[in-house]
Amino acid sequence: MCGIVGYVGPRVATPLLIEGLKRLEYRGYDSAGVAVMNGSGVETVKEAGKIARLEALLATTPVHGTTGIAHTRWATHGPPNQKNAHPHMSQDGNIAVVHNGIIENANSLKRMLEKRGYKFMSDTDTEVLAHLIQETFDGNLEDAVIEALNQVEGTYGIAVISAIDTHKIVAARKGSPLLVGLGENEYFIASDVSAILAHTRQVVYLDDGEMAVVDRNGYRIIDLNAEEVLHKKVARIDWDLAQIERGGFAHFMLKEIFEQPHTVENTMRGRLLLDEGTSKLGGLNLTDEELLAFDNIVITACGTSWHSALIGEGLIEELARVPVEVEYASEFRYRNPIVDEKTLCIVISQSGETADTLAAMREAKRRGARTLGIVNVVGSTIAREADGGIYIHAGPEIGVASTKAFTSQVIALLLFTLKLARLRDLSLLRGREIITGMIELPQQIQQILDRAEEIENLAEEFKRASNFLYLGRGYNFPAALEGALKLKEISYIHAEGYPAAEMKHGPIALIDEMMPVVFIAPHDSVFDKITSNVHEVKARKGRVIAITSRDEPALEGMLDYEFRIPETMDILMPVLASVPLQLLAYYVAVKLGSNVDQPRNLAKSVTVE
Ligand code: M6R
Repeated sequence: MCGIVGYVGPRVATPLLIEGLKRLEYRGYDSAGVAVMNGSGVETVKEAGKIARLEALLATTPVHGTTGIAHTRWATHGPPNQKNAHPHMSQDGNIAVVHNGIIENANSLKRMLEKRGYKFMSDTDTEVLAHLIQETFDGNLEDAVIEALNQVEGTYGIAVISAIDTHKIVAARKGSPLLVGLGENEYFIASDVSAILAHTRQVVYLDDGEMAVVDRNGYRIIDLNAEEVLHKKVARIDWDLAQIERGGFAHFMLKEIFEQPHTVENTMRGRLLLDEGTSKLGGLNLTDEELLAFDNIVITACGTSWHSALIGEGLIEELARVPVEVEYASEFRYRNPIVDEKTLCIVISQSGETADTLAAMREAKRRGARTLGIVNVVGSTIAREADGGIYIHAGPEIGVASTKAFTSQVIALLLFTLKLARLRDLSLLRGREIITGMIELPQQIQQILDRAEEIENLAEEFKRASNFLYLGRGYNFPAALEGALKLKEISYIHAEGYPAAEMKHGPIALIDEMMPVVFIAPHDSVFDKITSNVHEVKARKGRVIAITSRDEPALEGMLDYEFRIPETMDILMPVLASVPLQLLAYYVAVKLGSNVDQPRNLAKSVTVE
C-alpha cells in the first residue's frame, strides 16, 4: 500500500527520502516521487515503476534541499503512471502533497475547484487536496491544511510542504497510519516505522483526527477538531535494523520462513506456565471473572490472519467450549452481526493497520463488545485501539506473503485458548501436555527447514502446473487454505484450498493427470478419512503430493511425492504443516521468476477499504 516519508532537519533530504522509500518498498507500490524545498521553491521529481527508476531520474535532475516529502503509490484512482504519481502540486506550484487513503468526495470538490479555474493535471483524488490547500492558504500552512481537510470526506494520511511557509511539514491522519520520528534537531514523518528506523527509534503515533507540524525546532501535535495542542507519549521502537534487512537470504520471505523457530519461540516466551498447565498473558486487560463471563467469541481478520482465525475457532471451541464465529472483517460490519457486551471480539492482524479489520473492530466496539487484538506491529492502530491484546512478537514481516506472522498468530491463539480453557474445564494434565507439545515446536520447525532442499526439488517438478488443489481436514483445513493462498499470491498459479471431504462435492471434477493435489495427511484423528480422499484423487489420475508424519501402509503406492514432518498433537499440526507449504510456494515462485517479496498487485498492508 502507499507509503509516506518526510524529512526536515539539517541534512540533505533527498537521499534520506529515497532510503525511506526503499524501506517501504515491501508494502507494494507502482510509482514513486519526491518533493523537496530547494531554496527558491518546491521541486518535484516522480516516476512510474520501481524506485530505481526514480533514482535514475534524480541522478539526471537532482533536487537539493533539507525539507522534503516522498511517496510510493499503490494506484486506486487512475492508472499507475508518472502524472498520477505523488507528490501532487497545487496550481501555483507552491504546495506539494503526498496522500495515502481515498478522498470520497473528490469528484464534487474537483467540479467546485474547476469552476474556480483550477486545472487538473492527474486522475487522482489527491490533487484535489493540493488545490484546496492553495485555495485556503493565507501564509500559514497548518491553518490552510485544517481548512482544506474540513471540506474533505474519506480517509487520509497526508504530508504537505509549502514554498511560502518554508522548512515545515504538516501531516494529518484520518484512517491511514502516520507517525512522527524524533531525531537530534531533525524530524521525520512516516507511514511505517521501517522507513525511519535507521535514524531514530523515538516516535509519536498520530491518531485519527490529529495533525503534526514539524520543523527544525521541534514538533507539535494538534487535535484537528478542538484545534488544541496535545501532549502525546513518545514510544520507543524495539525492532533493530538487522530485522528489516535480508541478512544474506535471497528474499525477505525466505528469511522470514527460516526465522520461524525463533519467532514461534518469541511468541511463547515468558507466557507458558508448565506447572499450572496454562498461559500468562499480561496484555489481556481482563480479570479471570471477566474472561469467563463472555457468552460468545467473534474472531475477525483478513487473508492469512483469517486463516489463523479459523484455527483459533477450532482451538477455542474444542478446548474451552465457548461458541466462536469467524468473520471476514470486510463482511462483518455490513451484515448486522450478533455482537453485544457479552461478546469478546478477537481481531487478528499482522500489520495492525488493515482498514477492513480496523473498521470491523470499531464496529464491534460500537456494539458493546470487548476487543482483543492479536497483532505483530507494536504501536499500530489496532494494537492501540483494542481494549487488550497479545503481541505476537514475530519481528518485522517485510515479505508481502505472510509466513512467520501466521505461525505466531496460531501460537498466540493457542496461548489465549489455554488460559480460557484452564479457567473453564480443561484438565491440568491436558494443559501440561499441550504446553509440552508447544515447547517442542521450534526444534521441529527447524527439522523441517533443514530439509528445505527436498521441497526445492519438488518445486522444480511441479512449477509448470497451472492449477493446484490443497486439501486438509480438521485443523489442517485452514492450513490448506493458507498453503493455496501462498502459492497463488507469489507464483500466480491458481490454487484452491478445500476441506478434503468437500472435494467430492464439486472440485473432484477438476482432477486429471495434470492436477497436483497437495494433501495435508499427518497421522492424526482424521487420518483414515483423508486416506479415502487420497484414493479418490489417485483413482482419477491426480498427482498426489502428501505432507505426512509417519510410514502409512494405507498410502502405499498412492503418493507421487511425500514430505515427512515431525509428529505432534492435532492442534499443533497446522504450525508444522504450513512450513513446507510456505517453502513450496516460495520455490515455485522463484523458479518461475516472480518478484517474491513484492508480488504484482499486492500490498503488504491494505489500508483502504
Ligand atoms: O496485516 P494483516 O494481517 O491485517 O493483513 C491481512 C491480509 O491482508 C494479509 O494476510 C494478506 O492476505 C497477505 N498477503 C497474506 O500473505
